Amino acid sequence: MRIVVTGAGGFIGHHLIKRLRSEGHWVRGVDIKRPEFEASRADEFLIADLRHFKSCLQATADIDDVYHLAADMGGIGYISANHASLTRNNTLINSHMLEAAKVSKARRYLYTSSACVYPAFLQDIEDVSPLKEEDAIPADPEKGYGWEKLFAEQLTMYYHEEHGIDTRIVRFHNIYGPLGAYQGGKEKVPAAICRKVAMAADGAGIEVWGDGEQTRSFCYIDDCIEGLLRIMESGYTKPINLGTDELITINDLVDAVCSAAGKHLLRDHDLTKPQGVRGRNSDNTLLKEVIGWQPAITIQEGIKYTYDWVAGEIARRKVTAGEDLGAMRLEK
Ligand SMILES: NC(=O)c1ccc[n+]([C@@H]2O[C@H](COP(=O)([O-])OP(=O)(O)OC[C@H]3O[C@@H](n4cnc5c(N)ncnc54)[C@H](O)[C@@H]3O)[C@@H](O)[C@H]2O)c1
Repeated sequence: MRIVVTGAGGFIGHHLIKRLRSEGHWVRGVDIKRPEFEASRADEFLIADLRHFKSCLQATADIDDVYHLAADMGGIGYISANHASLTRNNTLINSHMLEAAKVSKARRYLYTSSACVYPAFLQDIEDVSPLKEEDAIPADPEKGYGWEKLFAEQLTMYYHEEHGIDTRIVRFHNIYGPLGAYQGGKEKVPAAICRKVAMAADGAGIEVWGDGEQTRSFCYIDDCIEGLLRIMESGYTKPINLGTDELITINDLVDAVCSAAGKHLLRDHDLTKPQGVRGRNSDNTLLKEVIGWQPAITIQEGIKYTYDWVAGEIARRKVTAGEDLGAMRLEK
């Protein structure tokens, strides 16, 4: 099979390419940058800006399957600070990628969406009901990032209906693991907490955004990749959740990281920082029906691998405690 993975320089795309190559596929990776922490395993790596239609045509030329992961995105701080540029960038990328896949006659097309499409009004308490796929409409998604993901889902479904493209639409719920951004402003909460814990002396305090009682479910990268491949094989063309349904608070997450690190730390809660919705969990009923499987790696297990990797990177780079690794990098 000839496969293209967009977002190949990013966290999930890089892991996906490793898995596809290990299964013997020919893979083209596409991104505006190469992976940060190790060399790509792609057979061919195209540096291209997918906001341009020509680049999307190059990306999809002579390809059977498209895994479209490229997106301008980051953690809650980044997506809250960049509504206009992020929405514009991703709308261009997603619209051009679909049209290019049609022109290039790709066999299958998988789009990676997000739990940020779900309405805020269903996520305003900690002890939330898990979100089912049909809950996304009527819409009230996350400002910017959630709206453009929801729009791209709809557009993907229109291409399926009108042009017969064999589509998949996967809604990720907080994917984490080694080889993801852990500094610079694009990191997400598990990696950010791993970094803060790794850099703190035992007994010291670390900053936690909000009161830490906001809840989420977190899915380890190996489970995410397994789920992606199974969903591609499933033939299911509509949106489907991919995440765990193990709901934990951010304070629980901090405790899991401290336990992986063998440190006792105090939490300094900063209530002025963005926190996203109050609670969010994945309902995996449809996932189990469609692929007969759901993510199973526990937060303790996944966080241990992730913490060891982040701590190793920080030690390798000899980062000093005074260095502001969390500083926001605003890319317009
Ligand atoms: N990681 C998560 O928890 C999570 C949750 C929900 C949805 N998602 C979605 O999954 C996909 C992959 O996420 P990730 O965590 O690997 O993110 P990532 O930021 O690590 O990877 C995205 C990649 O897209 C690339 N990109 C951005 N703009 C581009 C452009 N104009 N042209 C070409 N490449 C461009 C970036 O350079 C980056 O390498 C994204 O679509 C994201 O929205 C991820």
